Amino acid sequence: MCGIIGYIGVKPANEVIFDGLTKLEYRGYDSAGIAVVDNGRIHCRKDIGKLRNIRKLLLDEFQSESTIGIGHTRWATHGRPSAFNAHPHGDCHTSLMVAHNGIIENFMALRRQLIEEGHKFVSETDSEVLAHLIEKYYNGDLKKAVLEATKKVEGAYAIAVIHKDHPEEIICARKEAPLLVGLGNGENFVASDVTAILQYTRKVIYLENFEAAVVKRDTVEFFSLESGENIVKESTTVDWNPVAAEKGGFSHFMLKEIFEQPQVIRNTIGGRTSEEEGKIYLEELGLTGPDIFRAQRIVMVACGTAFYAGCVGKYLIEDLVRIPVECDLASEFRYRSPLVDGNTLVIAISQSGETADTLAAVREAKSRGAKVLGIVNAKESSLTREVDGLVYIHAGPEIGVASTKAYIAMLTALTLLALMLGKIRSVISSDFVKEKIRELKVLPQQIEKVLEQKDKIKEIAANYLNYKSFLFLGRGFNYPTALEGALKLKEISYIHAEGYAAGEMKHGPIALIDSEMPVMAIVTQSDLYDKTISNLKEVQARAGKLMAIATEGDTQIRHLTDQVIEVPKVSDIFSPIINVVPLQLFAYFVADLRGLDVDQPRNLAKSVTVE
Ligand code: G6P
Repeated sequence: MCGIIGYIGVKPANEVIFDGLTKLEYRGYDSAGIAVVDNGRIHCRKDIGKLRNIRKLLLDEFQSESTIGIGHTRWATHGRPSAFNAHPHGDCHTSLMVAHNGIIENFMALRRQLIEEGHKFVSETDSEVLAHLIEKYYNGDLKKAVLEATKKVEGAYAIAVIHKDHPEEIICARKEAPLLVGLGNGENFVASDVTAILQYTRKVIYLENFEAAVVKRDTVEFFSLESGENIVKESTTVDWNPVAAEKGGFSHFMLKEIFEQPQVIRNTIGGRTSEEEGKIYLEELGLTGPDIFRAQRIVMVACGTAFYAGCVGKYLIEDLVRIPVECDLASEFRYRSPLVDGNTLVIAISQSGETADTLAAVREAKSRGAKVLGIVNAKESSLTREVDGLVYIHAGPEIGVASTKAYIAMLTALTLLALMLGKIRSVISSDFVKEKIRELKVLPQQIEKVLEQKDKIKEIAANYLNYKSFLFLGRGFNYPTALEGALKLKEISYIHAEGYAAGEMKHGPIALIDSEMPVMAIVTQSDLYDKTISNLKEVQARAGKLMAIATEGDTQIRHLTDQVIEVPKVSDIFSPIINVVPLQLFAYFVADLRGLDVDQPRNLAKSVTVE
């Protein structure tokens, strides 16, 4: 949700910043801007639109050799997408510029007061108050002015600030929005996300809430926003490969990430299983035995695709561990006085580790005495610092706004967790775990077989470009798969789609079935196979257009439809992992063939750091 970047070094700042913005664009792409300090003046260019459309303004025709500057890519919250609402924002005299990610909740009151004091506002944003506040408190010391200004604001912020009279420093600060400093040689960086600077450095220092930094070419000095005192922080080396954040020959990040899924599963399980012993090792888990034994129930909290991963987790854990599991949308959980206590284990799932609602749900759960386990992709993200235990999913950087490989990695991690807990609680045997580890290890090859059917799935998708609504049906472990399949289609093709439990059809949605409502059925072999087939017959009887995800060699399904995508036979518990792959490809091709921007669908952002 908005990306910010700052650079100070030896290279032309706008080039480094523009490059970084292209990596941050997944966070928001309504508008973008760059500001640099150039010979005692601020030089700023910004406009509405995606980076590729405003590249000329920000890069090709940006007339400055300055080596210090900041940039921003926006996902509008306060103020419509427009050139004047684009960041960075300046003060009355364009002496300083601020790039901001977050929401200043008391901005109306601050704005009113600043206007009374003579400040002139040019945008509708909450962020502009930061520039005016810093101007108000500035008397030659930029760090001090930022310190004073941040004391006045309520809400969330990650900011980067430059001033025309301070060509040697960028000031950055953080509260409840991600921010890091990247350490180079004679150059340093500020960024919302490590992908923005990966090609320059992997050595980073993550800021915590109420921390700030004075970033110069050769030094970085950290200080506390609360006390103003300097603080010492350690750097970490990020193990993500910069190439992982490039498209690598694929037409879209989403397609590349779908194709990375076999390797992602290998990475998620890597080193965590012992087939010989029938054991799962989740080393970084952090929770002690009693925490796990005490848990009488589990509550999953997450948003979006991560929430559907949690719904699969419910089926897995109830089946393999025999503990009751509830799934709660983080945005609901946080505001409804949830019934959790010391006997509840809360599992928070998030790709970014920065989703505001998920973070708030975690705080709510902890305040009620629950232990919280995080299932997270982004290393060192805010969520990883707030939980009691952690399982990294190792999906690598995910850039496509519609989540794919992170979902598969979440399911894999949840499967490992369920197998481990089931074993600890003696619900399942070592032999069972051994068998499942063996199956898990061949899953990547089985997914490769599904990926080989890419052209066939594209052909099927081509028949469905102009429908207005879709129904996705699944049962048991694959009910959440139906929900996720529908979400993928909605997100990137803008076609209405609903996921439904197949057995629930007769209680309402069957009324919708006609030749204008295509149905995608997940009907792989399981105990519920015959029952699902009966549900599909009901669809067929009403002239519904049917497509199916079925197990290789299934002939019965052919009596109902010839539009069948076959997947290799796997155990029920692994079926959500394999069955979602053709649905991801189906959504991808429908959107791409409709000529839509698959990686950056309208109105969405990858990381939602606001409520
Ligand atoms: C946004 C993204 C979704 C994602 C959700 C949760 O809505 O567009 O793809 O599933 O946030 O994100 P998280 O980073 O917490 O998994």
